[in-house]
Amino acid sequence: GDVGAGEQVFSANCAACHAGGQNVIMPEKTLQKDALTQYLSGGMKEASVVTQVTNGKNAMPAFGGRLSDEDISNVASYVIDQAQGDKW
Ligand code: HEM
Repeated sequence: GDVGAGEQVFSANCAACHAGGQNVIMPEKTLQKDALTQYLSGGMKEASVVTQVTNGKNAMPAFGGRLSDEDISNVASYVIDQAQGDKW
């Protein structure tokens, strides 16, 4: 996916709960490398982020049907790029 386009999707749809890669509802479940490795179902990879964003999990809403597959792919690329590079 397109990391730059994903950043826009993130700002509009994710930052309310995940500003700066944090998590205002479940503070330990950040979007940083260590947390994604430990908690994200399927491990720290784009496909795992796509699955969670599409389907939601617990208090996180599902975005399937609200965001296009392209937007979800792009935001997953952005999240993994940020985590992999320790950018948040
Ligand atoms: C967890 C991404 C929107 C609430 C996560 C995780 C990812 C993620 C990758 C796994 C983090 C981990 O396990 O350490 C995104 C993206 C979003 C988005 C890309 C936008 C498309 C939101 C919104 C909310 C939210 C708007 C709040 C209303 C949560 C919660 C968890 C979580 C509560 C923990 C779920 C659990 O394991 O019980 N998010 N998120 N997310 N997110 Fe989001």
